[in-house]
Amino acid sequence: RRLGNAATIGDLRILARRRTPRAVFDYTDGGAREETSMARNRTAFERVEFRPNVLRDVSDVDTSATILGRSSALPLALAPTGFTRMMHHEGEIAVAAAAAAAGVPYALSTMGTTSAPALAEAVPDVRRWFQLYLWRDRDRSLELIRAAERAGYEALVLTVDTPVAGSRLRDVRNGMTIPPALTAKTFLDGALRPRWWFNLLTTEPLQFASFGSWEGTVAELANHMFDPSATVQDVAWLRETWPGKLIVKGVQQAADALAVVEAGADAVVLSNHGGRQLDRAPVPLEELPSVVATVGDRTEIYLDGGVRSGADAVAARCLGATAVLVGRAYLYGLMAGGQAGVRRVLELLAAEVRETMQLLGAASVKELTPDRIRLR
Ligand code: FNR
Repeated sequence: RRLGNAATIGDLRILARRRTPRAVFDYTDGGAREETSMARNRTAFERVEFRPNVLRDVSDVDTSATILGRSSALPLALAPTGFTRMMHHEGEIAVAAAAAAAGVPYALSTMGTTSAPALAEAVPDVRRWFQLYLWRDRDRSLELIRAAERAGYEALVLTVDTPVAGSRLRDVRNGMTIPPALTAKTFLDGALRPRWWFNLLTTEPLQFASFGSWEGTVAELANHMFDPSATVQDVAWLRETWPGKLIVKGVQQAADALAVVEAGADAVVLSNHGGRQLDRAPVPLEELPSVVATVGDRTEIYLDGGVRSGADAVAARCLGATAVLVGRAYLYGLMAGGQAGVRRVLELLAAEVRETMQLLGAASVKELTPDRIRLR
């Protein structure tokens, strides 16, 4: 009932904070350095002014959008997020099942706690994408790609904004490790959230599906695994290696969008990683018009960072994005109530997309055009 009473994703965030240890909540909720990019992602959406048309017969609204040539129930997909079973023991499988029920794609992270084949087996009817970080060990990257291919993944999402880990200062201050260690401080926290700790200690050990356990911080892990020498040639290499759709995530300006499209990407995600990498990086919503002008006729453009409502997805669509990716929003739902929480998030997003379109006077997402929006 608490989930049902949540009227916004912000309400679910409050529930999430109550139910999850401080360090885990902060790892999810926080951003890099001064969190300037993270805050600006939200400020940009607050600048949106919708310009409705009236008397347009919106009795029958179609919220579906074509993503990679196939219909999605909403103009959005669930973004890849690492170590999801730490947020809630039901983890990636719960998120993918909720995505399948809502009819939207789900991207599994390379840093996930469920392997690509295991997820496909558990949730065979979800539209699934596999997110890849290029590892120093290319043979290991190749093994992951082949496993995803065999398990029927539709798209590979190469994340390119992470040559090294961004500095997430909340994690530093909390002494956050992966997996969370039981110390005097976390023990105290455990007394307040016994259910989370009970689930951590009684379910399968929390470890990375792609390479097993790791003792240390997230930043140490990323810097050990990720290859900072990656270039646009690696995009071309993946294009030859991977037979499915290729999405490049973490592009932050038009020139780079053009370069990756020329190297063979089918879609780009304009993203500053939710403000978790380079602080003061550009805000995707503000960069979108220039990226659309440069590559909009050759590729699909997705946007992420700060999407907290269906109205945000509608705004991005008006400015030329094919779809948005949703990151923290679904993790708040997951932390608040497992699969039921993610379902609640998707229910809220669907209702908000529909209502915004109706009040805007748009009966289909094709009618969401730039004349319907202004940034104040
Ligand atoms: C992420 N993100 C991310 N991206 C990626 O390509 N691989 C990954 O493993 C992760 N892991 C991850 C963990 C957590 C806890 C968060 C919050 C984010 C970034 C994610 O895909 C997306 O770009 C952002 O979350 C979008 O911003 P919002 O929606 O969270 O504001």
